[in-house]
Amino acid sequence: MDEWRAVYDTDEMVKRYEDRLKIIGIRVEERDEAVLNMIPYSDKNNFRVLELGSGMGRFTKKIVEKFSNTQIVCVDGSATMLEAAKSRLKEYSKKITFFCKDFGVSSWVEEITGTFDVVVSTGAIHHISDQRKKELFTEVYNLLNTGGYFINGDLFKSKYDVVNKKYYDDVWARYIQQKTHEVLGIERDIEDVRNRMYTALKKEGDKPSTIEDQLLWLLEAGFPVSDCVWQYYLLAVIVGIK
Ligand SMILES: C[S@@+](CC[C@H](N)C(=O)[O-])C[C@H]1O[C@@H](n2cnc3c(N)ncnc32)[C@H](O)[C@@H]1O
Repeated sequence: MDEWRAVYDTDEMVKRYEDRLKIIGIRVEERDEAVLNMIPYSDKNNFRVLELGSGMGRFTKKIVEKFSNTQIVCVDGSATMLEAAKSRLKEYSKKITFFCKDFGVSSWVEEITGTFDVVVSTGAIHHISDQRKKELFTEVYNLLNTGGYFINGDLFKSKYDVVNKKYYDDVWARYIQQKTHEVLGIERDIEDVRNRMYTALKKEGDKPSTIEDQLLWLLEAGFPVSDCVWQYYLLAVIVGIK
């Protein structure tokens, strides 16, 4: 079984997701805002969005709240997360369609009909391999209308080990340590935090790639514009404009 599925397709994750984000979700609000701000429409526009790895609909809710005339197709491989999203977003049920699909295999596109003005994703694409990311970028390109935007806010890696180590060992671990204290009232020494963090990351089987590679793969997929519009260490928002 895929590692992401073993972690995300569980009742336990649905129960813990939001609380977990309060501890580990470094710069999530800022990243989300950067993704939302790149959507080139206003509340008055009628446009179609495809969201990849929509999970429990946390980011989906931000889209429907900001853009009341949008129609959203949500794709996630976890039926458990999608059920939670359906219930959380039931007041918007006329605007949102859900598909339980694994975008780690190219057949995910088969049931998706029509084209889109925007494709977004937050914190999901780093779960698939480099090869699948390349293919996915082409699949996304083909689903977009001319002028359409692909906006991906995700976890990346540096090509330099020293930078990766700095982020995980220091920036992220210290953030988690501080939030564990603030939110849970638990004091943990930094080594304990690092051990727990690395154990959790291993379980999730993250496969982040570099920003440079992904910007190149967007160009290779056909996007004439490919850029990084926001970055905090290894977290970034990249865009491809068709
Ligand atoms: C960290 S959560 C992010 C959820 C949501 N986008 C957010 O920002 O709160 C990652 C989501 O991606 C989904 N996911 C990971 N790999 C996937 C794949 N290959 N196909 C479909 N969904 C996938 C997981 O099921 C999970 O719901």
